[in-house]
Amino acid sequence: MIKLGVNIDHVATVRNARGEQHPSPYLAAIKAISSGANSITIHLREDRRHINDNDLKIISSNKKIPLNLEMAATLQMLKIALKYKPNYVCIVPEKRQEITTEGGLNLDAKNKKLASIVQKLNQSNIRTSLFINPSIKDIKLAKIIGTKCIEIHTGKIANLVKNKKNYKKELDNIKKCSMLAESLNLEVHAGHGLDYRTTKILRKISQIKEYNIGHFIIGESIQFGLRNVIKTFKNILRNK
Ligand code: PXP
Repeated sequence: MIKLGVNIDHVATVRNARGEQHPSPYLAAIKAISSGANSITIHLREDRRHINDNDLKIISSNKKIPLNLEMAATLQMLKIALKYKPNYVCIVPEKRQEITTEGGLNLDAKNKKLASIVQKLNQSNIRTSLFINPSIKDIKLAKIIGTKCIEIHTGKIANLVKNKKNYKKELDNIKKCSMLAESLNLEVHAGHGLDYRTTKILRKISQIKEYNIGHFIIGESIQFGLRNVIKTFKNILRNK
């Protein structure tokens, strides 16, 4: 089965715009799982711009929600992960100024800190993943670092598809990387910028076993949900 992880960061973005409780990332997580999502992804950023510590606490306490925590490779985040024990951790690069995660990790075999964080998570039975660019060199380094999974950053192909440019070369590159990763016994995931069209295109790559999708799902849910919410208000206004 190909799995769908739903990233609910932007439910928190909308909530934080008012500093109140609505909409609730926790309720969104429950709704996503009951609708067939295989896991929930939240990115606890160092600046807490969307998901906050309380969201992590509440969501991780419900063991019926398979939880994937995205985090930077810092000792502070490792401590938080070991405390709340999400099912999965995906380590991502983080820059304060960026609007979203712009690229994969900058892997370096000499970076002992990353390997040590991955090792500690593995020892705690938290499935580890590294968010990387589709690069043969990075797949080999990811294996050396000891992760169980890799998540391929799909931002480049997503942009090519959205801008109606030729994406074949990038698709071939992702395919080659996915095949190498599978041969090294790394589970292959994909994420970033995915919509219906890009996901359909990537589905041709049988090695990709999990898709993590956020912004498009939340945006599309707003567009789809508007009708029902407006109908509810019209009913309220009709009845005194
Ligand atoms: N996977 C990872 C590792 C991410 O950091 C993100 C968010 O940038 C996503 C998937 C989801 O990306 P998007 O919100 O563009 O679908």
